[in-house]
Amino acid sequence: MTIISTESSATGADQPSTGVESGLQHPLANLSAAEITRIRDIVSAEESFTETTRFAFVGLDEPHKWEVLAWQEGDGPLPERRARVMLLDMATGYSTDNLVSIDAGAVLSTSVLDGSAGQLPVLIEEFDAVADIVAEDPRWVEALIKRGTTVDQVKCVPLSAGHYDYPEEEGRRILRVLAFRQDYPEDHPWAHPVDGLSAYVDTATRKITRLVDSDVLAIPAESGNFDDPAVQGEPLTTLKPIVITQPEGPSFEVNGEWVSWANWNFQVGFDMREGLVLRQLSFTDSGEQRPVIYRASIDEMLVPYGDPSPVRFWQNYFDTGEYLFGRFTNSLALGCDCVGEIRYFDAVMSDELGNPFTIENGICMHEEDYGTLWKHSDLFAGSNEVRRSRRLVISFFTTVGNYDYGFYWYLYLDGTIECEAKLTGVLFTSAYPGLDEAGNDYPYASEVAPGLGGPYHQHLFSARLDMMVDGLSNAVDEVDVKRVPVGPGNEHGNAFTKKVTRITSEGVSGRTADASVARAWLVTNTEKTNRMGRPTGYVLYPQDSPTLLADPSSSIARRAEFATKHVFVTRYDPAEKYAAGDFVHQNPGGDGITKFIADDASVDGEDIVLWHTFGPTHFPRPEDWPVMPVDYAKFTLKPYGFFDKNPALNVPAPAKAHCSTRLPTLSAGPGAAELAAAGECAGGCNCSND
Ligand code: CO
Repeated sequence: MTIISTESSATGADQPSTGVESGLQHPLANLSAAEITRIRDIVSAEESFTETTRFAFVGLDEPHKWEVLAWQEGDGPLPERRARVMLLDMATGYSTDNLVSIDAGAVLSTSVLDGSAGQLPVLIEEFDAVADIVAEDPRWVEALIKRGTTVDQVKCVPLSAGHYDYPEEEGRRILRVLAFRQDYPEDHPWAHPVDGLSAYVDTATRKITRLVDSDVLAIPAESGNFDDPAVQGEPLTTLKPIVITQPEGPSFEVNGEWVSWANWNFQVGFDMREGLVLRQLSFTDSGEQRPVIYRASIDEMLVPYGDPSPVRFWQNYFDTGEYLFGRFTNSLALGCDCVGEIRYFDAVMSDELGNPFTIENGICMHEEDYGTLWKHSDLFAGSNEVRRSRRLVISFFTTVGNYDYGFYWYLYLDGTIECEAKLTGVLFTSAYPGLDEAGNDYPYASEVAPGLGGPYHQHLFSARLDMMVDGLSNAVDEVDVKRVPVGPGNEHGNAFTKKVTRITSEGVSGRTADASVARAWLVTNTEKTNRMGRPTGYVLYPQDSPTLLADPSSSIARRAEFATKHVFVTRYDPAEKYAAGDFVHQNPGGDGITKFIADDASVDGEDIVLWHTFGPTHFPRPEDWPVMPVDYAKFTLKPYGFFDKNPALNVPAPAKAHCSTRLPTLSAGPGAAELAAAGECAGGCNCSND
């Protein structure tokens, strides 16, 4: 999981120590290929390691935050380099979670999973096995024939099982299988779902444990081959090229994994589970490097489906915890995903045999022009100033089966931080049942092409934001607008104000967004103040979209409590990494956030982690077929009294001379025409790409 800058630039003078100079590994450095090889050698020397043992997960075991900070301050030793290694014996299902000292060359601890509290993540080797397993079962073969197709004509999609109290699944590794017909090798099978049929498969015994054979529905026939010119139609011929150039190069500096850009500093991290991780994000203000977030990642994401069909009610994918979506990071080597002066980082991780492998250009970083940063044409002072905004974009794309997800972190000159998910790829389809006998439309899916259904679903991303606003002592306030009734002091009824509620402990920290009161959550430092004597802070602005829509008594609601609220706040604990728990695959529930908040620890003036769930509820459109135009979901963090004033005042005016100039004032003459002209874009300060 080493990040290798493909092109290293000069070291920034004000960057944090990377340890590179001293020859020591920074405690937060991503695992290198050499370290992964060493981990494999350490682990495979253990007696319990067999020929059928696979590496389900290998990741950096990050030292305690306080140890890292103490070391950086010169007040503590360099923490030990450790890795977390999850091992699965494919033949027996024997599963262990191991802590390995890379420095000492030893396994420090091993815990054995009995499966009652979840399984290790799904292996690619298990994915590959299911097609052969089902093909050997005559019931599956018969059921396909009944639907007018054959084993040779279908692709089997291995899907995570969830937890539904089937006794034969207890302690076993189970995948559920749906079939899609593929008419020829280049055909996209998602267009041809074989509905009414699903197989539950034990991947260790290689047997179908249960076959669900319900309705026989026609297999939709129309091609979904969006890459076929015949499906695309006549090419649009009116688009001229847009070329982004940065003749003097990009404005960021890269030193190994560490980046500085404008006033921002951070480390580009990568993990095979979470994908991109930003660490130690800070903003330099008057020469002082002020921390904002210690660690930020998408620690979990859930795609729950709302179709109760007997072959689909269990569709609830945890793409991070069950499938480790970081593994499926796209190589952006083609250069089509980002434009401008790009800096790529490679992602290095372990394969299932414990060998390192590299995804070249897995992470993309570039600058984007972002329109107007600030602007004013003054009526009285004659001042006419425009500044252009730009942002630094750090992103990766991962493909999990049919869907493709991009995760984009944006850093702005004014201290704003945004995280945006981009959703594209291909819908997970069904055969559309059509109208029922009473003439009612099917209530749980859209018809996206003739006879083809797009079942309703949600995409719920969990952002784990290990906050460090100006230091470790933080608190969170829920801030709502508050209407004030007419009365003494508000005789005219125009008043409105704020209602501020301190989130005092974990037990009351589960909160829901409410656009009707512009609800936001303000993270403040309880010890530091700005020049007005008020706490320095950053505010989280959510998008108001539904949380988990499944019934509170459902299996998925128990397994994904994190997704039942938009926000939870917990006391920092290095063991609390993932919102749905460490072992999400077949986890019966009550893990993750549910456990983290159970002791109701105080989060007022503590070292805290903010967990934010965001993402769209998707009623698929015909326009989402056969490939979805990108849909977006995001959240924003903005400084709120963190700075003493606008921190982007000193951004220079664009090179064009008229972007900072004087206008005639109102008192000095007519001036109206000039003032109006200042609002136009023709001069290029407001709308250009420069
Ligand atoms: Co969707």
